[in-house]
Amino acid sequence: MKTSAKTLAPLLILMFTPAFAQDVPQKIDNTSCKIAFSCETSVYDDSSGPFVDSILKKMTLDEKIGQLNQMHWEDGTLLEENARKGLVGSVMSITNPKDFNKIQSIAVEESRLGIPLINARDVIHGFKTIFPIPLGQACSFDPDLIEEAARISAIEASAAGIRWTFSPMVDISQDPRWGRIAEGFGEDPYLASTLGAAMVKGYQGKSLSDPTSIAACAKHFAGYGASESGKDYNSTFISPNRLRNLYLRPFHACVDNEVATIMTSFNDNDGIPSTGNEWLVKEVLRDEWGYNGVVVTDWNAINEMVNHGYCEDARSATLKAVNASVDIDMMSRAYMANIKHLIADGLINESQIDNAVKRILRLKYSLGLFKSPYCDETLPSTAFYAPSHIQKAQELAEESIVLLKNDFHTLPLGPEVKKILVTGPLADAPYEQLGTWIFDGDAQHSITPLAALRDEFGVENIIYEPCLEYSRDTKLEGLNRVKEKSSDADVILAFVGEESILSGEAHSLASLFLQGAQSQLIKELSQLGKPVITVVIAGRPLTIANEIAQSSAVLYSFAPGTMGGPAIVNTIVGRNNPSGKLPVTFPMTVGQIPMYYNHNNTGRPSDGTELRIDDISVGTPQTSLGNKSYYLDYQKCLYPFGFGMSYSDFKYSDLCLDKNEYQVNDSIILTFNLENTSDVPGIEVAQVYIRDIHAGLTRPVKELIHFERIALEANDKKRVSFSIPVDKLGYWLGNKYIVEPGKFDIFVGGNSDDCIKNSFNVLY
Ligand code: BGC
Repeated sequence: MKTSAKTLAPLLILMFTPAFAQDVPQKIDNTSCKIAFSCETSVYDDSSGPFVDSILKKMTLDEKIGQLNQMHWEDGTLLEENARKGLVGSVMSITNPKDFNKIQSIAVEESRLGIPLINARDVIHGFKTIFPIPLGQACSFDPDLIEEAARISAIEASAAGIRWTFSPMVDISQDPRWGRIAEGFGEDPYLASTLGAAMVKGYQGKSLSDPTSIAACAKHFAGYGASESGKDYNSTFISPNRLRNLYLRPFHACVDNEVATIMTSFNDNDGIPSTGNEWLVKEVLRDEWGYNGVVVTDWNAINEMVNHGYCEDARSATLKAVNASVDIDMMSRAYMANIKHLIADGLINESQIDNAVKRILRLKYSLGLFKSPYCDETLPSTAFYAPSHIQKAQELAEESIVLLKNDFHTLPLGPEVKKILVTGPLADAPYEQLGTWIFDGDAQHSITPLAALRDEFGVENIIYEPCLEYSRDTKLEGLNRVKEKSSDADVILAFVGEESILSGEAHSLASLFLQGAQSQLIKELSQLGKPVITVVIAGRPLTIANEIAQSSAVLYSFAPGTMGGPAIVNTIVGRNNPSGKLPVTFPMTVGQIPMYYNHNNTGRPSDGTELRIDDISVGTPQTSLGNKSYYLDYQKCLYPFGFGMSYSDFKYSDLCLDKNEYQVNDSIILTFNLENTSDVPGIEVAQVYIRDIHAGLTRPVKELIHFERIALEANDKKRVSFSIPVDKLGYWLGNKYIVEPGKFDIFVGGNSDDCIKNSFNVLY
């Protein structure tokens, strides 16, 4: 018998019940959200209230609207004029401290009220010192290191006068065709929540007022990663329940960690562009989650609501955005042109603008800009590329490398390997290894794999013949030379993948094969009778089943950044034992997309034993018996979520729970044996998944609920213990977060596919 629900410590008061909310079945806990993270102290300076109010009282309506206006450094004299008149609140992309101080002095000293500007920039995976792209960082499953990297990014960016970054991108993506998959943390909401929160903490530090802190921006709110067919800016069709259970969770975690700002997304979801979506921004983000930070549009997104066909003109688009409680207009100028008239016509209440201005002034106050509006022009010389920053970049690049295959222990290379043939277009491509969104990173600081190999083995022992100049090159020119020289080599190292411009914003692909003649190169290399080690440097998962089959060992390195070369070489020689795990499923073929581990079971789940295309005899009559949800031709993925090998071998056994039955306010103590059965010390990312067997909404076959990096010496064995609060096991049904009573499976393993299992019940 189901009894009535217990109340989970409600941290938010739910004020709205959206129209789609379903009747809540009796057994369900009808409580508010349990938040996954919480801050002990506020990064905001909450004494700002009276100060902000006193400024607001002095502001004209034009000056208020000016605070909502974001301009670009390239706006030149118009920017200066507006700064002088108090008609701009923030500026994008000034990277020279002198330039910033110049425009800031106009705002502070020449405008009537002297309100300082905030300088914002896309600092996505490093400012000068470039870390791996976020998808690569996610392979580390290491929130502490990611937080440290974001701190370094903040130190370098703030040295240039930047106090606001448009990062982290916490869009869930199940589609490697989408070029922006590179910028996020992959397909899992728990992983993206944990890593997104870590980045926010790193950027913002303990207090925004620290001059090295920069305001973070969780983007793109919301659902952008589900862009139809992987084409950028495309429409999405995500139901409210799916939105809340998958796409909104990482945003919620960022809000919980006091992310200073949130950016609305370009996409229209179910017909409503996010920038004008009152339900999404006003009701869910502000009223349900209690978010009182700044909301900024994406670039020109207010005007684009006209292109979407949602608004007749910029005026009606402005009305939608203001009503959705969107504070800052990035680059469209629609607020500047229309708000005043909309107020005069009685369609907007000035208090709506006042609220937006208050949020912006509070942010500026918390950043300490009223006290110290200028940046120290001497900082860049010590902050940029500081040795400790470079070292962290290498550490994170090493943790982000994923070992996909290692037949006959080809890796790490032993002392018997003296001469190496190095080939492929990405062995020595200093710019390409940095990945997308690196406006400020300088390729001259990159250390390429070729440079690092020469350093490691001596120039004379590295035979270098790239064969292809760049990843799309179709002319395999040096192949004959490779064939000739291969007889001198002990192994062949092939560096293939994608130039950085092939992923990122507006760079989507319909085919995920290796570009140009790279596949042919691997095929030719595989016939030379030497072990071929393939290193893929790319911005997304690629469909490389053939190349994997033709290689003895494969390392995958999502664009690894400035220190990619040394990180890869340290891995190749075994100083770094790989521990990276995939944050996203690798499909065998594009036709399987979207393919993700946390899918629902369906009424006819496949068990992998169904007929394959070649099993069907010609003329077989149609039958409706035994039909399952699967493809006749491709059943499995190439690699499951969470997959990644090591030079060590790990064995999981004996998963025990402290009880069989739990109350909702209990914690599950699970213990298991983790054994390193090899002679090599290593680190394993142990992953815990659950399955809610039956629920008011069908739930995924597995959901990541916890992970930890565990170090084990050679031939070492540990009894590992994790504590998982039962209130983490819930899901959203409408605007209610609920943990249902009933049976759950719990799994532990080194990837989402290969796990040991136990079960328990949740009681009420
Ligand atoms: C992107 C955002 C970015 C903004 C500002 C847009 O095109 O979608 O992610 O922050 O530009 O550069």
